[in-house]
Amino acid sequence: MTDPNPNPRPSPRAFSASGPLQGRIAIPGDKSISHRALMLSALAVGTSRVTGLLEGHDVLATAAAMRAMGASIERTDDGAWVIDGVGVGGLLQPRQAVDMGNSGTSTRLLMGLVASHPITVTFTGDASLSGRPMGRVIDPLSQMGADITASPGGRLPLMVRGLAPAIPLAYRLPMASAQVKSAVLLAGLNTPGITEVIEPVPTRDHSERMLRGFGADLTVETDADGTRHIRLCGEAELRPQTITVPGDPSSAAFFIVAALIVPGSDVVIANVGLNPTRAGLVEVLQAMGGNIELQNAREVGGEPVADLRVRHSSLKGIAVDPAIAPSMIDEYPILFVAAALAEGRTVTTGLDELRVKESDRLAVMAAGLTAIGARVEESADGLIIDGTGGDPLPGGATIAGHLDHRICMSFAIAGLVSKAPVMIDDMAPVATSFPNFEALLASLQS
Ligand code: S3P
Repeated sequence: MTDPNPNPRPSPRAFSASGPLQGRIAIPGDKSISHRALMLSALAVGTSRVTGLLEGHDVLATAAAMRAMGASIERTDDGAWVIDGVGVGGLLQPRQAVDMGNSGTSTRLLMGLVASHPITVTFTGDASLSGRPMGRVIDPLSQMGADITASPGGRLPLMVRGLAPAIPLAYRLPMASAQVKSAVLLAGLNTPGITEVIEPVPTRDHSERMLRGFGADLTVETDADGTRHIRLCGEAELRPQTITVPGDPSSAAFFIVAALIVPGSDVVIANVGLNPTRAGLVEVLQAMGGNIELQNAREVGGEPVADLRVRHSSLKGIAVDPAIAPSMIDEYPILFVAAALAEGRTVTTGLDELRVKESDRLAVMAAGLTAIGARVEESADGLIIDGTGGDPLPGGATIAGHLDHRICMSFAIAGLVSKAPVMIDDMAPVATSFPNFEALLASLQS
């Protein structure tokens, strides 16, 4: 694996009506866990080993940045990754700006790490990332003492001048964001005293799990109303670990929905991470009548994992409880495709955060689904979709992917249940999170 290629040539593709999907596939490693495994290994004293790491461009951008700040990170011939860390407090000044490509998670988490180290780092990214709001991490990290100069609107390119020792903070999250939570906790690693994140709405807890796994003193207390108080004791010493990264439920999502909506399908998706803070989609699809069977439930790398057997099902539209949104925040684009094939109306609300992902996923999904003949109405914070009841969509349009991997993959799956092919203007962004997406799809079609 080499460094990510930030400007691959556009790869237009057409996806057409498919016969039944059949067979067994294994999903590549979880993106969120892969980022954290590299970052914490790079901060441990000694050698860590990571297997199952996602080798997508986003994670490779994290690897390149951690290397630029002094860690040694190598891929072995057997596909494992070996990381020699610099120790908390030991990050070095990179010689040039670090290019985060398309990756919001790399950017926001690394801004946290840099904030409490005595180094200055300039972050750059692609057109999608450069349009995304960074104020949500600039605010708490500035309160901890970092000096951050951003482009207008709190966007990239931006420069973080860290402060060591930084000032510990008790920070109440103003929005449900695991990236903001993690940025503050990672800044707290090299900060004296207790850094606390108060989380009214629980979000993915991979940072908490992994920080503890690396030996950090981290506690979580939950109030009667469900608010979580996450307290990290700073100036931590992290011990190197051996980590197995489970498969990414957000990648599995595309094949779960594909198997549910393509008639005659029967697919086993192996090694899917089912951390309760990530598993909302399975719950919602089952409530819609999806036949999804959990097999061989087990634990991998401190995370719950199972194999999923998914069979074609007649889906029914539902009103999706907005409270479930944080546990499936990346899965709405593909849920909208499932809803477009369901019988009756699906109503989603509480999804303002979808407007600040790699693209405005409410606007882009509404426009694309309308273009291929689905009946969709966009509201301020969700979509209302009247499904076909299992009949194919008309299709026959070209979708602009807006540099958003999950938009590209969602419409690729929509193409499998459309009368006329669905064209995607550029599938290259898929390599950020799921490089073998098309190969796995082809393997289920043959
Ligand atoms: C992520 C958190 C989520 C998610 C993103 C990965 C993480 O973002 O959308 O793909 O690894 O912490 P937000 O924190 O903005 O909700």
